[in-house]
Amino acid sequence: MKNIFHKRHRYRVWICFAIITLLLAALVCVFFYRKNMEPVSNLKKQVLAHKVEAMVYTGTENAIRKCYPSGCRYIDGYFYYFMNGKIQIRKHKINDKKPVVALTFDDGPGKYTKTLLNKLKKYGVRATFFMNGTNALKYQKEIQIMQEIGCELGNHTQTHANLIKLDEEQIREEIEGTNQAIRQAVGTNATLVRPPYGNVNDTVKEVAGYPLILWSLDTTDWKRRDAKAISDYIMKYAKDGDIILLHDIHKFSVDAVSEFIPKMKKKGYQFLTVSELAAYRNAQLEAGKLYFQFAK
Ligand code: NI
Repeated sequence: MKNIFHKRHRYRVWICFAIITLLLAALVCVFFYRKNMEPVSNLKKQVLAHKVEAMVYTGTENAIRKCYPSGCRYIDGYFYYFMNGKIQIRKHKINDKKPVVALTFDDGPGKYTKTLLNKLKKYGVRATFFMNGTNALKYQKEIQIMQEIGCELGNHTQTHANLIKLDEEQIREEIEGTNQAIRQAVGTNATLVRPPYGNVNDTVKEVAGYPLILWSLDTTDWKRRDAKAISDYIMKYAKDGDIILLHDIHKFSVDAVSEFIPKMKKKGYQFLTVSELAAYRNAQLEAGKLYFQFAK
């Protein structure tokens, strides 16, 4: 009699244990689902299914970069981000019959950046921010929000320097200054560099150590100084594959976002970060090379 009781008891313990394990597993799943990211162990299967080499998820960051210089890949409706020896994944079905663009905001962060980030979040739009280190130091919270909502963090030098007037050491310092400020906020470096004024020479190309991202549509927002005028200009000239240049340090540029994003969405435009746009168009981003747009 006593033995039977013991066996039954053990059986119950195992059931309880199984239920608790299942509950914990469910909690973990919900956590990762909510972050729209999946744990690396799950990715292994998916990455293998897409015939991506094993080294990309077990290797060092250098090994990953060797396979994926752009740090981002688009495979069958998923973006794979390779950073710090880890892979992150985001589901994003892109309609290849409709146009894609990358919005970029320079010279910030500034006092209007938080408002801009709220708008981007509301519209479900990811953008790329090319930041100056001096501002990045002052607006650390904004940089954290950028990362949270999937925006890309770009480097626009520490002091908005004209890099072609600097020597190698000074160029390195300008880029490292901004990286340091971004690291302080989110623990990672920028993924891209945009040289101020679009000024580049051979020394800049050699020393930058990053893909150099320029633009194909300059809104000249700083000259128009009017949200409607900026929005109208974008609506008139934006086309598939464009990298659109704006500045988040101006209120009229941030206001313009509420005008042109809904209009562009209506026309079928899809918004990606610069690295996502490059990945989507199968462009391998390489350090020291210039990129203006990623058309079909
Ligand atoms: Ni600038």
